[in-house]
Amino acid sequence: MKHTSLPLPPGAWLGMMGGGQLGRMFCHAAQALGYQVAVLDPAQTSPAGVVANRHICAAYDDRDALDQLAQLCSAVSTEFENIPAESLRYLAQSVRVCPAGDAVAMVQDRLVEKAFIGQAGVPLAPYAQVLGLDDLAQASDALFPGILKSARLGYDGKGQVRVTSREQAHEAFIQLGSVPCVLEALQALDHEISVVVVRDSQEQTACYPASRNAHRDGILALSVIDGLLDVDVVRQATGYAEMLARQLDYQGVMCVEFFVLQDARVLANEIAPRPHNSGHATQDACLVSQFEQQVRVMAGLPIGTTQVLCPVAMLNVLGDLWFDAQDRHCEPDWAGVLAVPGTRLHLYGKAQARKGRKMGHINILGDDAAQLRQRVAEVERVLGLPHD
Ligand SMILES: Nc1ncnc2c1ncn2[C@@H]1O[C@H](COP(=O)(O)OP(=O)(O)O)[C@@H](O)[C@H]1O
Ligand SMILES: [Mg+2]
Repeated sequence: MKHTSLPLPPGAWLGMMGGGQLGRMFCHAAQALGYQVAVLDPAQTSPAGVVANRHICAAYDDRDALDQLAQLCSAVSTEFENIPAESLRYLAQSVRVCPAGDAVAMVQDRLVEKAFIGQAGVPLAPYAQVLGLDDLAQASDALFPGILKSARLGYDGKGQVRVTSREQAHEAFIQLGSVPCVLEALQALDHEISVVVVRDSQEQTACYPASRNAHRDGILALSVIDGLLDVDVVRQATGYAEMLARQLDYQGVMCVEFFVLQDARVLANEIAPRPHNSGHATQDACLVSQFEQQVRVMAGLPIGTTQVLCPVAMLNVLGDLWFDAQDRHCEPDWAGVLAVPGTRLHLYGKAQARKGRKMGHINILGDDAAQLRQRVAEVERVLGLPHD
């Protein structure tokens, strides 16, 4: 039955646009609070589709399917950044939708996103809009070396090319399909951090402690929350994340990625309008995970504590681990991983392992930062991962 007054009672249906792993973990959190979940996703089987109470198998812009979702559900959210914003706007005519289509649209296009971040008063890396080769010819010398990024649909480092010269940028622009791009000056990164922020319809806001993120081949490899980040850097990043959520009039969970430069400046990189890979540690190190917060905001329940109870690391499990040195298929040593104290394994139920594909993650808890580091190294050793 559809409910219109908040908070939604247990048994109410929550709708999720997208059937990926973020949707799957949302389902688990929603079901633990007694809600039922309907997932709309075009694939026959998907990580969230198989655990949802109902799977509506249809394209994201299928009006009949959207009507069905809106009729059944009391609130709808998204786990997929590139969901057509128009579908969220359409749903909003008949059901509570958080975040709003307008907020999601703002961060789906890097050009619109960067203009918004800049206008919000949050520092960014210098960039130029590249709609055609003319823009490259006119781009400032200060943007080289740089990274050319397609304005739309990029993720995990896809749709971007590092360029050292105007000529290379020219080639890269054609290689990317001559689509609208951002040319961004390469920054001297000291490290990268991110802040997951929760904001509800009462305009209450809460942030999880910033995590420090290490990437490998453009994909997040490890996120750590161990209390060792510089207090001023964290204060700035948290302030910026809250400002951005407020200015988007955001309802739900979002994440802001930041660059921390060698001169300690903090620059916003990008915003994800959903729970974030770097926030998965909250599943085991916090009383309330980022997914439960997403459920709570949708259901009109109070935002939960964002306190992290002990040092934690989140290690991504990519499909590469299913292949040995001879490229033969093998199952990673899960028993070995779980024999390391403080570890929890989360797998997304994806049938096929492919290199670079996110298959799961491991949360690793420690009593202190040093013990955590040791345990991470031990898990990496068991899995045959390089240790940085
Ligand atoms: N301007 C930059 N300077 C230095 N490193 C960058 C820059 N832009 C991106 N990177 C690196 O590439 C990663 C992926 O870029 P990002 O813009 O976040 O795209 P994606 O949407 O693929 O996550 C970043 O986390 C960072 O490590
Ligand atoms: Mg990113």
